[in-house]
Amino acid sequence: MATARSTPNIAFIKYWGNRNNDLRLPAADSLSMTLDTPSVEITVDHADTLSVQSFQANGSEKVLQEKDIARFQNHLDLTKEYFHQIGLASVISSSTSIILRSHIPSSIGLASSAAVFSCLARAYAGLIKDKTNLDDEQVSIIARLGSGSAARSIYGGYEALIAGEGDVIDSSYGMQVANEKHWLLHDIIIVPTQEEKKVGSTEGHALAWTSPYYRKRLDQMPRRQKECWDAIMTKDFEKLQRVVEEDCWDMHNVMQTSIPPLQYLNDETYRITDAIEELRESENIPVLYTMDAGPTVHLFCPDDAREKVLAFANAQKGCRIFETKVGRGAVLL
Ligand code: PMV
Repeated sequence: MATARSTPNIAFIKYWGNRNNDLRLPAADSLSMTLDTPSVEITVDHADTLSVQSFQANGSEKVLQEKDIARFQNHLDLTKEYFHQIGLASVISSSTSIILRSHIPSSIGLASSAAVFSCLARAYAGLIKDKTNLDDEQVSIIARLGSGSAARSIYGGYEALIAGEGDVIDSSYGMQVANEKHWLLHDIIIVPTQEEKKVGSTEGHALAWTSPYYRKRLDQMPRRQKECWDAIMTKDFEKLQRVVEEDCWDMHNVMQTSIPPLQYLNDETYRITDAIEELRESENIPVLYTMDAGPTVHLFCPDDAREKVLAFANAQKGCRIFETKVGRGAVLL
């Protein structure tokens, strides 16, 4: 039996679209910050058949749909395929039992899949540790097989998902850019709506190539990835802000022009990002925004801007606010 804990990460340079959907091999590199909270905990054990139980923060059991269980089964099958490939064919002989406890409030618009699959990957590594010690890169590959972005939550601080090339299962993996002590950035989350997103990112990735702007996006990705990486290493917030917002709008442009179009943002998102741009200009506050596959706005800022950004967030009527900061990623308990 093994238990792990992990948290979500928020991408500065977004992962959108795969070169191989079945193996979740991304079409381009991405880069993110791992959050300190909220967390999920997963306990795994060997079992004859797969069982998955999921509990919410208040202790109540969440009834999982058939498609949720199928995703865990698919992830286990791919994980076993990967183990087979690296000469560990029998480490998980038949199946596993999975008990998941999530402290991620369903209302804050934070996708839990990065936290869940990074946590599960770390727990699987713990389960087989008497037979072999997997390194973080190998654990990140197992995480990626469940959710591409999960490969990044294996690491604390700032981390990249390296796309790699070809169709081999381990050709794409996560790596750390800088650890959580490198730069204290806060993420103040503004949630304008509680609606469940209509098209999940797994289905969304498959539509990326239908947008006429997707190839142009891929051309820009190496430059953006490098600028973002440099901005983090040199703690250049202004440079980070420019490239993060450029990439965020570009991803949403691809989403909105795919067939069928995916509109994850709403009027409130646009109102909030306009207001942030005004605030930044009038008061010279270091703050940047980014949005994933939903209308939730993430405001990132260094420590000295935290109070002003929090005051701005709390002044947004009808929105929920959640505050977090850079964190340490998936750990074995
Ligand atoms: O890991 P997935 O398949 O849930 O995809 C994540 C997609 C975005 O959140 C929109 C971008 C990202 O890089 O996290």
